[in-house]
Amino acid sequence: MKTVLILNGPNLNLLGTREPQVYGAQTLADVQALCDRACDANGFDLDFRQSNHEGELVEWIHEAGRAQAAGTLAGVILNAGAYTHTSVALFDAIKGTGVTLIELHISNVFAREAFRHHSYISPVAKAVMCGFGVNGYALAIAGLAAMQAGSA
Ligand code: DQA
Repeated sequence: MKTVLILNGPNLNLLGTREPQVYGAQTLADVQALCDRACDANGFDLDFRQSNHEGELVEWIHEAGRAQAAGTLAGVILNAGAYTHTSVALFDAIKGTGVTLIELHISNVFAREAFRHHSYISPVAKAVMCGFGVNGYALAIAGLAAMQAGSA
């Protein structure tokens, strides 16, 4: 069984109390439980992580590249939070490893401030999931399963 690595960036540990009108009432633990169920349903193992540190996210992407090369990883789902809009280092890590990666946002970033409209992740992402609330995580897991099956 292949693993899906879900990486959450800065401030996503605050889900549930952080701007609930934008991000909803569910906590990061709730999101992890939702991802567990979605991985079970799609035949994946789940590895779910969060960090407020850019370099740690970079190192986890390197680790994901090695796991994908070894055949144990289906792909990465990355909610890079604010680093989406700032991080050349994440762009380089994704491009440099060639890892299969889905960019995810809980909110519709295009309906928000202009500084959220640019993403350093999108050009190196296989797909982008945005604006479906936390259900986007389950949809992205199903999308990765469809990619693995060759139907997406
Ligand atoms: C976010 C959107 C980003 O613009 C923001 O900085 C976040 C969360 C989202 O999930 O909607 O921290 O990635």
